[in-house]
Amino acid sequence: MASYDLLLLPGDGIGPEVMAEVGRVIEWLDRNSGSTFETETDLVGGSAYDAHAVAITDAAMDKAQAADAVLFGAVGGPKWDSVPYEVRPEAGLLRLRKDMDLFANLRPAICYPALADASSLKRDVVEGLDILILRELTGGVYFGEPKEIVTLENGEKRAVDTQLYTTHEIERIARVAFELARTRNNKVTSMEKRNVMRSGVLWNQVVTAVHKAEYSDVELEHMLADAGGMQLVRWPKQFDVIVTDNLFGDMLSDVAAMLTGSLGMLPSASLGAPDEKTGKRKALYEPVHGSAPDIAGKRLANPIAMIASLGMALRYSCDMGEAADLVDGAIADVLAGGTRTADLAAKGQNAVSTTEMGEAIVRAMDARA
Ligand code: NAI
Ligand code: MG
Repeated sequence: MASYDLLLLPGDGIGPEVMAEVGRVIEWLDRNSGSTFETETDLVGGSAYDAHAVAITDAAMDKAQAADAVLFGAVGGPKWDSVPYEVRPEAGLLRLRKDMDLFANLRPAICYPALADASSLKRDVVEGLDILILRELTGGVYFGEPKEIVTLENGEKRAVDTQLYTTHEIERIARVAFELARTRNNKVTSMEKRNVMRSGVLWNQVVTAVHKAEYSDVELEHMLADAGGMQLVRWPKQFDVIVTDNLFGDMLSDVAAMLTGSLGMLPSASLGAPDEKTGKRKALYEPVHGSAPDIAGKRLANPIAMIASLGMALRYSCDMGEAADLVDGAIADVLAGGTRTADLAAKGQNAVSTTEMGEAIVRAMDARA
């Protein structure tokens, strides 16, 4: 029987509230799925700062490196606005990403039929949408050097950011894209701006070469990133996996997110390189939303983004695709049945609490199993 080690880092604000509902789903899976889970919980963000004066301890980092998957809630809040920059809550997440070398950021955009009317686009454009944006997370213009503001001789200032990618960085994100596409609808759309950026030329060449050498069974299409943005809101269902750089991926994944409704619905995954011996990738799973201090402690938080993040962990880190389908299906069932947390409820409609939503999802898993 397979057993998986999960590290839970609930964090701050609504993080612990939504993580508690993930705990409920893990318990159910532990009893019913045929696989077992060892979970351990540690501090990150402001809560780690309060206890240890750092945003994550070395001991918690060691656990994260050793786990099959890390589940991360959210960090930050007004309480920590004035803590020193190096130990601010976000530093915990940044250290996890950096030390685990999580270069591949997966952001699914799924539109549940029951929520299609909450989208800013027409129902038929988004209903049933299921695409995946793959963003390169550790390279590109956010990290390239030089990165500076200098004062010129005439007193003017000049700011520089450097878009920089190596063959190796593009190859490894391209491989993730093609591997994901093989488990989905077998199509990759690569987006860059080769018409105006040298990094776009190299991106295009390397993705094409990786495709030809290793993944010619997958359909590959190239699109300029600005045109891709238009296509995303015109007819998003044309896509399966979109792979793009850090900057374009940041923007395009936020655009795609809003096609599908509430921030409380959106999971994400960040993957590292495969281990040389086991082939397993380091991985961290987290909702896209933050710690929502405005609703923390009020039982209002929607736990679906966090629970769907567990679903992604089952799929990508635990070899439990069927269990992942069960979790996703249970979420769809609950929404189809009209259960809504406050962020999803229509005016005048009764909303359920965080816990009630978690319980409803577990009941729906029972009903499907
Ligand atoms: P936020 O995502 O926390 O909240 C934005 C709005 O969406 C709020 O009105 C909030 O109530 C609502 N919302 C978010 N998640 C929800 C959920 N699950 N259910 C229902 N409603 C939900 O972003 P904001 O307000 O910009 O940031 C708040 C704090 O979170 C800040 O300290 C920020 O730095 C931190 N943050 C942390 C992130 C992380 O840990 N990865 C990501 C984004 C922000
Ligand atoms: Mg962003």
